[in-house]
Amino acid sequence: MEIDSLKLKKLRNYLNDEIGIYVEDDKLKSIYERKIKKLLEKFDYDNFNKFFKDLLLRKNSLLKQELINVFTVNETYFFREKHQFDTLINYILPELDKIRPLSEVISILCAPVSTGEELYSIAILLMEEGKLIKKRDFLLLGIDIDSNVISKAKEGIYSARSVQKLPPEIIKKYFIEKNGKYMVRDFLKKAVNFKVVNILDRYAMKRLGMFDVIFSRNMLIYFDEKSKREALAIFYSILKDEGYLFLGHAERIPNDIKLFKSLKIGESFVYKKVSDS
Ligand SMILES: C[S@@+](CC[C@H](N)C(=O)[O-])C[C@H]1O[C@@H](n2cnc3c(N)ncnc32)[C@H](O)[C@@H]1O
Repeated sequence: MEIDSLKLKKLRNYLNDEIGIYVEDDKLKSIYERKIKKLLEKFDYDNFNKFFKDLLLRKNSLLKQELINVFTVNETYFFREKHQFDTLINYILPELDKIRPLSEVISILCAPVSTGEELYSIAILLMEEGKLIKKRDFLLLGIDIDSNVISKAKEGIYSARSVQKLPPEIIKKYFIEKNGKYMVRDFLKKAVNFKVVNILDRYAMKRLGMFDVIFSRNMLIYFDEKSKREALAIFYSILKDEGYLFLGHAERIPNDIKLFKSLKIGESFVYKKVSDS
């Protein structure tokens, strides 16, 4: 089926409203040719209006999920921007450990987590540090809107490229190598949790609970301004007082948003929640 640019823009705008990602006009045609066309064939659509109507009426949740999966960019790897994890382990968690009662779980959210490397990296570094996890409980949760990447995160099998920034001794301790693939060892898998969630779905986000630290790296760059502001407001609402937000190196909180204070801690810039009380 051929689709004109007006229809493609309609589809782009619908997805932009739903999930925040904004695809520029000049990229639409190629995404259609490479991916959406096949998806429409798979679901037996030969009429755009029928397909779009079904989408709006939420007639087929699998179709919607697969369409979303087509639009996401999932690049990630272990120890990406490691200095941010070092800031977390060496400064932020020791500080939170002092101010939170020992009976309170310290919760860390990776939103989005893609195929899981970011959350596993945090778990590995917490285990390497050793003292904090002996002392108290941590909850590590990773969420993403793309159901394919969450399945891969749960599976925990990675390519050599994905683990290339990890020192050999860490690979040996936390992975089983088989036929050029790296399988996360069971004890590490048990330390993390993954879930499909749309960050812009404020009710689903609220249901996750409150967090001490949120990592949201390399997603907001794909969002339009309105969705980015919405996501930041949601992160604010689920961060505990004294909580911290980490963004990707190309992402900033607009100056007029006064919900977070920018700080340099260790080698990284982080955002601390400004308490609303
Ligand atoms: C480039 S990856 C970033 C992964 C990881 N945080 C990192 O920096 O390595 C961006 C991820 O954002 C996810 N994403 C995009 N829009 C989302 C939304 N509305 N809710 C949840 N995840 C979303 C995509 O599915 C994709 O896996």
